[in-house]
Amino acid sequence: PIQKTLSIIKPDAVARNLIGIINHEFESRGLKIIAQKMIKISIEQASMFYYIHKDRPFFNELIHNISSGPVVVQVLEGENGILKNREIMGATDPKNAEDWTIRAKYAKSIDENSVHGSDSEESAKNEISFFFSDIEIYNR
Ligand code: CMP
Repeated sequence: PIQKTLSIIKPDAVARNLIGIINHEFESRGLKIIAQKMIKISIEQASMFYYIHKDRPFFNELIHNISSGPVVVQVLEGENGILKNREIMGATDPKNAEDWTIRAKYAKSIDENSVHGSDSEESAKNEISFFFSDIEIYNR
């Protein structure tokens, strides 16, 4: 099926001028960017977005990192888009990511891992509506 997924180019990648390269990774592998904007996420918004991780030991570091500078939030669309995006990103920890993936090539660490992508249909739906209204998303 054609699926939409929520992608975030994180502060570590934006700070290193990697927006264009990361967009090219998605586009050249068959994902379409159907919505995109640059924003700064507040600590409060980060706590809501990553609420499922609230009891994890890395939660404070996580919300600090994602709100440390501008990010690009985007909706990507493609055949099996959710899984395809996760394959293109590579494993959460760049040490475990395959060579060709974004995280292997550009991520600095598990905390500064350059990109986020929705992990299921349900989270894709929730995460897209967290950042975008319907009129901001191109619908065929
Ligand atoms: P992301 O896909 O944005 O989802 C949650 C983030 O928490 C993850 O990427 C990592 O950057 C960060 N993180 C830090 N430590 C861990 C861990 N042990 N397991 C999973 N995610 C972690």
